[in-house]
Amino acid sequence: MKIILTGFMGAGKTSTGKALAQKIGWPYIEMDEEVLLASGRQSIREIFQKDGETRFRELEIKVARRLMRRDKVVIATGGGVVMNRIILDYLKERGKVFFLDADFRVIKKRLSGDKTRPLFQNCKEAKALYQFRLPLYRQYADYCIDANGTAQEASREIRRKLKL
Ligand code: S3P
Repeated sequence: MKIILTGFMGAGKTSTGKALAQKIGWPYIEMDEEVLLASGRQSIREIFQKDGETRFRELEIKVARRLMRRDKVVIATGGGVVMNRIILDYLKERGKVFFLDADFRVIKKRLSGDKTRPLFQNCKEAKALYQFRLPLYRQYADYCIDANGTAQEASREIRRKLKL
C-alpha cells in the first residue's frame, strides 16, 4: 500500500508528505521532481514554456505508471493529476488517495509572489481552475483531509485514518 496526496497547488502536499514520510519511515516521492528528471529541463516552468502543458501531462502519466508497483511510499502528486484519470487509476491500484482540502483564500495567501507555478500566475484564472477541479479531487479521494492548518496537523490526520 502507498499513500498518495492530491490537492490544488499550495494545499501543502509537499510539506505534509515530507512530515508524514518522516514520521512513518517511508520514502517520500514528489511527482513534480520525477517529471522534471524525465524531461531533461531545468524547471517545471521551462517544461511548460518550451514543451507545452500537454508534454508535461504525458510525462506525469509515464511517471505514474512507473510508480504504480511501489509500496510503502508517500507520493505527493502535482495539482493537475486529476486532469488525466489514468494517473490516479495507476496510483490507486495499490494506494489510498488523500485529498488535501484547503480553501482558495488560504492557498492564495500561501502562493502570493510564487513564480514557479505556470498555472498560478493569474489569480482569477487560478480560482476558476480550483473550482473546476474541486469535484474531481473529491471524486478520486479515498479520504478528504482539512489542509487549512499546518502540515503536521494534516499528517497526523492521515496517520489517524490509517492507524499508522
Ligand atoms: C500543476 C501543479 C504543480 C505542477 C505544475 C502543474 C497544476 O504542482 O505539477 O505546475 O496543474 O496544478 P503543485 O501542485 O505541487 O504546485
